[in-house]
Amino acid sequence: MNEVVKPVEKKLKGTVTIPGDKSISHRAVLFASLAEGESIITGFLRGDDCLSTIACMRKLGIQIDEEDDRIVVKGKGLNGLTEPSEVLDVGNSGTTIRLLSGVLAGQNFSSVVVGDDSIAKRPMGRVTGPLKMMNASVDGRKNAEYTPFQLRGGNLKGIHYISPVASAQVKSAILLAGLYTPEETKVTEPSKSRDHTERMLESFGVDVSVTDYSAAVKGGQQLKGTSIEVPGDISSATFLLVAGAIVPGSEITLENVGMNPTRTGIIDVLHRMGADLSIDNERKLGGEPTADLTIRYSNLSAMTIDGDLIPRLIDEIPAIAVLASQAQGTTVIRDAQELKVKETNRIDTVVQQLVKLGVDMEATEDGMIIHGKSTIQGGTVQSYHDHRIGMAMALCGLIASSPVRVEDTDAIAVSYPTFFQDLNTLTEG
Ligand code: S3P
Repeated sequence: MNEVVKPVEKKLKGTVTIPGDKSISHRAVLFASLAEGESIITGFLRGDDCLSTIACMRKLGIQIDEEDDRIVVKGKGLNGLTEPSEVLDVGNSGTTIRLLSGVLAGQNFSSVVVGDDSIAKRPMGRVTGPLKMMNASVDGRKNAEYTPFQLRGGNLKGIHYISPVASAQVKSAILLAGLYTPEETKVTEPSKSRDHTERMLESFGVDVSVTDYSAAVKGGQQLKGTSIEVPGDISSATFLLVAGAIVPGSEITLENVGMNPTRTGIIDVLHRMGADLSIDNERKLGGEPTADLTIRYSNLSAMTIDGDLIPRLIDEIPAIAVLASQAQGTTVIRDAQELKVKETNRIDTVVQQLVKLGVDMEATEDGMIIHGKSTIQGGTVQSYHDHRIGMAMALCGLIASSPVRVEDTDAIAVSYPTFFQDLNTLTEG
């Protein structure tokens, strides 16, 4: 499918409730499957990625009922999964494959895991490597560095893994496998990655010890079924925040935005660039801080984005590149080499497509440099089947001199199936 986004005639106005957080939705279904008894999940994101997690857990013998506004999972405990009779297909979802691998490493049976073309290019050795150190038997393409791979677990041992990357997927996979060991398993990272696993394991009754850059679990702890309310996804909200910040005269409110401090790098960037952003109704939802955000158009200035800030906004960089194109001065994004191993190489895809629309920017080894303020032109751009590239390109259409046609927008359903609907609500004010 293609979508043509026309320049906004007046301004963006109105209120949107942000759909459920993708990272938290995955974890809710996965952990509920491993818990003793029933769990009820509300606010679950019915995006393609999270539906892949549901499909995989069903193939592992878990009953998951999708009702109108809730998901009911009949957990069978840590050792209740059964050997799948089919391959486990994770589709486009890096979170599904990496977290699931941690769980499968603990099982006394064999599973084969595959994904789509994008998954086939993404590094899996960062997870299969440490799982092998824990004694899991993993075999697959290029020594299980890539999909497809096969896992057979059992008899795992605890390790202290010093991860070379700040990755919540890696950390979570190892901690989940750690539940199947008789010892403690600990992960230390170079910077703190998102901590939804640590928070949610606590909600399921598991003790997790957390220090600045480390998290550890003792094996053998049982998860107990519970109720989880999933807050809205700040990564989805980001696209609308940027829309509000760059379309002259706009004022929009986004309700139900998850404000976990490991995810709020975008809020820091908006404030530092001079955006007019207010945070109201701060509360907790499912163990996660949540708030309503209001953004109004204002003049923006460039900044440097690097260091510990990067893991707190890594998924937001495609949208931030569009934001920076409308800021006065030169924005430098560095230390972001992880962008190269996302759904696409997002350094290349962002720069190639934005340059097509007239943005003055260049790629670097570990990020990009954006010279603002650019006049955006209309034209045709690709999403490369990457949801966040598709949404970033759509933002350009709102302020371009003529319509922007975004090709292959189906991918947006991975994380934000109602993106164009919500954008229309705001366009019509
Ligand atoms: C995620 C972690 C991040 C993020 C991804 C979701 C998660 O990936 O980019 O969209 O849910 O744990 P890494 O763990 O590779 O940094």
